[in-house]
Order: sequence, then structure tokens, then C-alpha cells
Amino acid sequence: MIVQSSVTLEPATELHENSPVPRHIAIIMDGNGRWAKERGLPRVNGHSSGAHALRAVTETCCVLGVECLTVYAFSTENWKRPAEEVSALFGLLEHFLESELPTLQQNNVKLRAIGRLSELPKSTLHALEGTIQKTTANDGLTLILAINYSGRTELEDAIRAVCREVAQGTLTPEEFNQAHLQKHLYTRDWPDPDLLIRTSGEMRLSNFLLWQLSYTELYVTPKRWPDFTGNDLVEAIKEFNQRQRRYGGL
Ligand code: IPE
Ligand code: IPE
Ligand code: MG
Repeated sequence: MIVQSSVTLEPATELHENSPVPRHIAIIMDGNGRWAKERGLPRVNGHSSGAHALRAVTETCCVLGVECLTVYAFSTENWKRPAEEVSALFGLLEHFLESELPTLQQNNVKLRAIGRLSELPKSTLHALEGTIQKTTANDGLTLILAINYSGRTELEDAIRAVCREVAQGTLTPEEFNQAHLQKHLYTRDWPDPDLLIRTSGEMRLSNFLLWQLSYTELYVTPKRWPDFTGNDLVEAIKEFNQRQRRYGGL
């Protein structure tokens, strides 16, 4: 199922016309540091190569007709890293937002972000808001950057919002249900991910989308994120298409 785009997939890995494509793919882009270390390079080189991988995977999602791609770019726990690495990451992100804008526009990509964005460095927040605003009318792929994000802080923020409604008397504890919580999640505008990909082999969620991944299919590859290509994405989708999703039923 190849549509017109600047990206051409290798014939061997094309998806067949009747293969379903996940509506929403989430990715834990891990292994940048190890990729760099294995090449005797500084960790930051791994992060900049990781940005190239994100560009390629985003374009492949456009080609395939994926609706939403959510990528874990910076967790609330990543502040524990050395200050130089943190500031290099935000510098790269600002550069990515600026340099990718023409490609995002060309591919009709709408950019969004989730996380405690108000805690980001001012210049990063400014660049992020600018690109979000400039791509707001696009109606192709929605690319969602999880920045200063964690599943637990998202739930904390959503529960606080629900508590406010109860305190104001617009919701009673008895009326409260999952739908009220869902309404306050950062991800309220999108369906839950169908497929979660984690690169670099770790078998954990690292605080990513804890609520939303309840029935998501998991795919872990040993490949480091900078080595992950559009064709690797197609391979992951092919495996996803072999899975039987039962949601607790038969
Ligand atoms: C993922 O790569 C990028 C971020 C967490 C920002 P890492 O930097 O975690 O790379 P490894 O896991 O140390 O190899
Ligand atoms: C998860 O990777 C966060 C991102 C990819 C942004 P980490 O490298 O921070 O996760 P842990 O520390 O291995 O669990
Ligand atoms: Mg890591």
C-alpha cells in the first residue's frame, strides 16, 4: 500500500494492499548513547543521529498512512543526566524543530507535544509552540513529541484536574469514572497506541504512556535507535499484523 511520497520503500518490505496499518504507533527511541559509545563518539552524536532516524520513520509513517506517531524524546527522569547532556538534547530539539519545518509542511504533518511543557527551557518551549502553531492546519500524520513526559506525572495532572471538578461541585465522587480521567489526559485527542516499539532491547516501559498502553502490542528490537529505519518500521508492522488482539475476550 504505497502512496505517493518522497520516500520509497524497498520492494521486499512493502506492505500488501490489504495489510492493515496501525492507526497509532508509539516509540521509545532508546540506545542513542550506546550507539555513540560503540563508535567511540560522544553521547550527543548518538542523539543527533537519532534525530535523523526520527525524520526517516516519520516520513515512512506518512507513506503508510499512519494517523498518529508518538515518540518519547525526553522523560521527567532524564533531568537526572549530566547538565551538558540535557542542554545538548534541548539544543538538538530546537534545531530539529526549525530544520524539519519545511519537511513537516511538505508531508502535511501536524506537530503536537505532551508532557509538562511549561517546565521546558524558554527557548525550547518557544520553538515548540512555533512549530505546533505553524503545522496546526495540516491534516496528515499527527506527530506527537513526548517531552518532559512521564506516565505518572500525566496521571498526577489528570487526577488533580478531576479533584478540582469535585472541589468545585461539578462532579461527585460517585459520578466519577474512567471517561472523566481520560478527558484530562494529555492524549485525550487521540486513540490509544496499537503498537509500541522500543529500540535497543530493554524490556520496560520507563514510565511511558502507562494508562494508554493497556492493550497495546509490544515490539522490542535490539537495534539502537539511530540505526532504526523506515524498513525496520515496516517489519514491526508486519509482525503486528500477525498478532491476535483479544482484549480479554476469546
Ligand atoms: C534515548 O537514548 C534518548 C533519550 C533518553 C533522550 P539514550 O540516551 O537513553 O541512550 P542509551 O540508552 O544510554 O544507550
Ligand atoms: C526512555 O529511555 C526515555 C526516552 C527514550 C526519552 P531511558 O534511557 O531514559 O530509560 P531507562 O533509563 O533505560 O529506563
Ligand atoms: Mg536509554
